[in-house]
Amino acid sequence: MAVKKSMAAIRAQQTLAPAALEHAQQAENVADSIHAPVLLNECVDLLVPHMGPGKVIVDCTLGLAGHAEAFLRANPDFHLVGIDRDEEALRLAARRLEPFAGRFTLVHNSFMHFEEVLDELGIDKVDAAFLDLGLSSLQIDERDRGFTYSADAPLDMRMDVEQKLTAADIVATYSVDQLAQIFTIYGQEKFAYRIARAIVELRESAPIERTSQLVELVDHVVPRRNRPAGNPAKRVFQALRIEVNGELEQLASTLPQIARRLNIGGAIVVESYHSLEDRITKSFFRMGQIIDAPAGLPIVPEEYQPYFTDLTHGAQLADEREITINPRSASVRLRATELIREIPEHAHADFEQWLEGKGLGLKPTAPRKSSLRNSSARKSASRAPGGQHSSTTGRRRENTSAQATSKQRRGR
Ligand SMILES: C[S@@+](CC[C@H](N)C(=O)[O-])C[C@H]1O[C@@H](n2cnc3c(N)ncnc32)[C@H](O)[C@@H]1O
Repeated sequence: MAVKKSMAAIRAQQTLAPAALEHAQQAENVADSIHAPVLLNECVDLLVPHMGPGKVIVDCTLGLAGHAEAFLRANPDFHLVGIDRDEEALRLAARRLEPFAGRFTLVHNSFMHFEEVLDELGIDKVDAAFLDLGLSSLQIDERDRGFTYSADAPLDMRMDVEQKLTAADIVATYSVDQLAQIFTIYGQEKFAYRIARAIVELRESAPIERTSQLVELVDHVVPRRNRPAGNPAKRVFQALRIEVNGELEQLASTLPQIARRLNIGGAIVVESYHSLEDRITKSFFRMGQIIDAPAGLPIVPEEYQPYFTDLTHGAQLADEREITINPRSASVRLRATELIREIPEHAHADFEQWLEGKGLGLKPTAPRKSSLRNSSARKSASRAPGGQHSSTTGRRRENTSAQATSKQRRGR
């Protein structure tokens, strides 16, 4: 079922057992103390023009509802649909949003089912969609979920614990080539093949099921003199997380769905933290921002005029002040686009191709264990080169005033 849990169901679940309640309370405290929504003022400013009576905004990555709360505070007259694939995040978000009861609907699902979610809610078009990609602080801090190399835990890494495929399954079943490919492409790991070979060798004698085993293995394999700052297992963990959760495929197949369901004047706002996520977003937005006419036409027909306008003029970055307070913001790229007219026929054809995996822009690679995944079919198994945005690359906004957007320097 697409809308796995409605708001009512989530509210009902708030009657938790004492142990679960204590756990939720701890998680909430962690969330309160650590999670700071990235580029909050900038995101609110981008969305305010799309709020108002009868308008609907979808927060596709509700998380701990830091952004969502700010959106709801910014205008009392719109409805927010909050989607997250992590049920625990939804429970905490539901609590946080209690003061706005009646103004939001929470849905447990992946945003890759965007259109199904809207259909089930009886919503035809929306006025904006927001995506703040990646992990929430809650997921990072919940040590037993295996996202972090800094604590021993089962090699899990599922954002949605109802999904079957875990990081341990990948480590147990992928070939050397498949492992090396994800470490290289998603993690930009220089020693990808060495690590992949070591995994396959080790698993012949003992299953690799704990984060500590992987951390130890990487520590053993990566030469000390070649280590960049930080834990040498960092990039391998990032790569596995992206693979487990099908993060890039899901983004690429969601953007066209959002575009198809936007009212004219509606916006898509995306915060990405990995260069491949940003590349996907940028190329999707760009398709609608350029004149896409066949060469040699004396006049550009209406059909080929742009249907999107760029609201952020490239990618907007966090400034040094925000990075100091919230290191997670160091790698953010914020892009937003607005639908300025009816989507033309030729663009719908492009969207279909994106739904089939073209958005990833590369040839398909090794067959995936898609049968291990959630009910939902993943559209393609493609890869693209990239890694986490470096805080030292790109141009950074130096102006510390969140309001003074006109003075902001932007990355492209
Ligand atoms: C960075 S956090 C969002 C934080 C949120 N903006 C806030 O201020 O609290 C990203 C969230 O998106 C969720 N998420 C990631 N991929 C998703 C997907 N494909 N569908 C639904 N939720 C997803 C994660 O579970 C996580 O809770």
